[in-house]
This record gives sequence, C-alpha cells and structure tokens, in this order.
Amino acid sequence: MKKIDRYAVFGYPIKHSKSPRIHQLFAEQTGQKLVYTAREVPPESFNHALEQFLTGGGKGLNCTVPLKELAWQRADQLTERAHLSKAVNTLKLQDDGSLLGDNTDGVGLVNDLTVNHGIPLNNRRILILGAGGASRGIIGPLLEQKPERIVIANRTVGKAEQLAQEFSRAGNISGCGFEALRGLQFDLIVNATSASLSNELPPLAEGLLREAGSCYDLAYGNEDTAFVRWGQRQNAIQSLDGMGMLVEQAAEAFYLWRGLRPTTQSVIDLLNAERKGASVTS
Ligand code: ATR
Repeated sequence: MKKIDRYAVFGYPIKHSKSPRIHQLFAEQTGQKLVYTAREVPPESFNHALEQFLTGGGKGLNCTVPLKELAWQRADQLTERAHLSKAVNTLKLQDDGSLLGDNTDGVGLVNDLTVNHGIPLNNRRILILGAGGASRGIIGPLLEQKPERIVIANRTVGKAEQLAQEFSRAGNISGCGFEALRGLQFDLIVNATSASLSNELPPLAEGLLREAGSCYDLAYGNEDTAFVRWGQRQNAIQSLDGMGMLVEQAAEAFYLWRGLRPTTQSVIDLLNAERKGASVTS
C-alpha cells in the first residue's frame, strides 16, 4: 500500500502556526490525501530533524523563523526567487532525491495585494520598512510588478543601502534611513520590520502616504497591529495585515508540492472569522 505523503512546517517557536490548518483546508478542498504537521525545531537541530523527516516519508517542508536561511543553505537546487532572497520557506523532495528550495513569501504578498485587494503595483511608489530577511524575501517579486520605484527605509541605514544595491539591476530601488523620507510620498507602505511583534512602530513621519494609498503589515495577530492602526490614522484606503499573505504563500507551496492550485479566499475568510471570534473571547 502506498504510504501517505507527509508535509510539515518547522520553526522555533511554532506553537501558534496556522500552516497545518491552512494545508488541511487546501487538502480537503482539492481532494488530496496528505498529512501536514508542525514541529518545533531549534536551529542547531535543523539538519537532523530534516533528515528524520525525509526518512519518515516527508515530501515537502515549510520553514519559518529562524530556519529560512538554514533551509536556503541546505537546498540542493534553488528557484531564482529563492536564490535572490537568500531564504527558503518551502522545500520539495524531488524524484531523484534532491531538495528544491523555493521562497513563496514574495509572490504570496503580491497575490494578496493585487488579486485579493485590487491594489495595483505597476508604476506605483512603494516604501518598504525594514532591511532584514522579511524585506529580502519580498523585493524581487515586488520589482517584477514594475513599480515606479521602491525605497527601503531602515533604522540601520547601511543595511537598507546594501539591500537596495543587491537588487539594483532589477529595477529602480534605493535605501535610506527613516529621517530621509521627509517630503516623500508613497502609494503603498509595507512594514517588513519585526517591530510589530513587540507592538512597536518604526519612527514614521506624517504625510508619507499619498491620498488613496494603502498600508500592509507582513505581521498579523488577532488584533490590529500597531502599523495597521498607523495606516488607519493616515487615512489609508486599505490598511491590511499579513494574514492574506500567509494563506497565499501556503497556496503557492501547495501548488509546488501537489501541482494543484487551491482557492484561497474561502480559507482567508475562515481564518479571519476565527480570529475575530478569538479576539472577542480573549
Ligand atoms: P526578519 O527576518 O523578520 O526580517 P531581521 O532580519 O532580524 O528579521 O530584521 C528585522 C528588521 O526589523 C530590521 O530591519 C530591523 O532594523 P535594524 O536593521 O536597524 O535592526 C527592524 N526593526 C526591528 N525592530 C524595530 C523597531 N522597533 N523600529 C524600527 N525597525 C525595527
């Protein structure tokens, strides 16, 4: 009898991961038989846990913080977008036993913005806050949408400049500090700092958002993040958090593994309804 295909997400911590739920919903929706679990894996155990997983019938793996760079190093081949982002969130076991590394975060963000929320990126001015791993993962796919320009602003200015330099061949992109943003205006502001995780806000001047512009926080929670609330105060036409991106990156991983593209809107609606319920009762 054929063994059931196994998938998992590794992270540290991993307790609150919604990925098992999302992939279970995708599997039901597409009639696929698979098992998807979450496992807490500290960085020093990553290689061992991965080998164990593959020996036990693992076919594909999602990696989240802080394991994406390790997964990037471990992959035998990389997609172009994973290569550029220096981070892998999806590993696929191929027929010859090798591991393909992909990064579906950026395309997940682009799909949530453009398809789910109708936010155009072509010819628009985009500001990315933060110059860490999360920013690196989204820049390539954002540049593919041919924005007028992307500015990366970061507390540590040199990191923003360096990151912009790495992507400069792919489009109009520059890096600076938060102070240097004064007087500039953007159609879309994306928060890719880890400030939201501690309910903090990068130091943002008033007036950075153009009229009818949008804000997007890669982070999400049961309550609005500090940055989503900032966007609301700036009269953003839409001020969104990263729940849609989470589901979209998962859909892209599911497609890579199973060759089927699940419908995402019903899953996003369900998760949104669940968290509304959670914030009322908690
Ligand atoms: P990740 O993988 O989530 O991107 P990271 O690589 O550690 O994590 O990067 C975190 C980013 O958030 C950095 O750009 C960091 O700024 P610095 O490079 O100056 O450290 C940014 N960040 C974290 N907390 C912040 C805060 N309170 N205000 C502004 N930026 C913050």
